[in-house]
Amino acid sequence: MIQIAPSILAADFLHLEKDIELVNRCGDVIHLDVMDGTLVPNISFGFSVIDPVAKIARAPMDAHLMVVHPERWFEKLAKDGVQMCSFHWEAAGRNTARHIRLLHDLGLKAGVAVNPDIPVSKLYPYIGQADYFLVMSVFAGFGGQKFIYETLDRVAALKAEIQRRGAQALIEVDGGVYEGNVRAVEEAGVDLVVAGSAVFGAPDPAAAISALRGA
Ligand code: DX5
Ligand code: ZN
Repeated sequence: MIQIAPSILAADFLHLEKDIELVNRCGDVIHLDVMDGTLVPNISFGFSVIDPVAKIARAPMDAHLMVVHPERWFEKLAKDGVQMCSFHWEAAGRNTARHIRLLHDLGLKAGVAVNPDIPVSKLYPYIGQADYFLVMSVFAGFGGQKFIYETLDRVAALKAEIQRRGAQALIEVDGGVYEGNVRAVEEAGVDLVVAGSAVFGAPDPAAAISALRGA
C-alpha cells in the first residue's frame, strides 16, 4: 500500500505541535521541506523548526533538502534523528554518489531528488546505491502547485529501470498530489507520496490521509 508523507510546509505553524501529532497518529512519514532561496526561489525553515519537531516526532522524519551544499547539514540532521534525507541532483551533480555515501555513513536512508525538467535517466547511475528517488511532480519551491502529469511516465520509466536491475529503491513523488490523482500516482509505481495542501488544507486532515491511502 502507498505510504503518505504529509508535508508540514502546509501545516499551521502557530499550532505546529497539533499537526505533528496528527502525522504521528495518522501519517507514515513527516516530510520536512528545507529551502534556501538559492537552489529554489523560496525560503522555508531550518533547524529552528526541525529541532523542536524532532523532540515530538514518532513517525520517521524525511528531510527534503532544496538547498545548495546539502552535505553541510547531513550530520546535524542525523543528530536530530532524521531517518531519511533527500538532496537535489541539481545541487549535487557529480558529488551525488559521495553524498549518498555520507548519508549512509551517518545511518540515514539516502534519497536523490530531481525537478520535472531533469531527465530521470540522470538518476540511473545511483540505482543500487540510493535508498529512494524523489521525483518532483511540481517545480520545487512552493506548496499548492498543480501536479505535472508527465511525472507518471517518468515514474514508470524509473520504476522499470529499478526492476530491470533487480534493485530495491523506493520512489517518492512530491507536489500537487490529492485524492483525485493519487490512485494514478500509485499505479505508476510510487511507494511514498508527499502531500501538503491535500492534508493540511482539508477540513479533516486525518480523513484526508486515509482517503489518500485508499483505506
Ligand atoms: C515543494 C515541496 C512539497 C510541497 C508539497 O517544493 O517539496 O513538499 O510542500 O505541497 P503540495 O502537496 O501542497 O503540493
Ligand atoms: Zn518536499
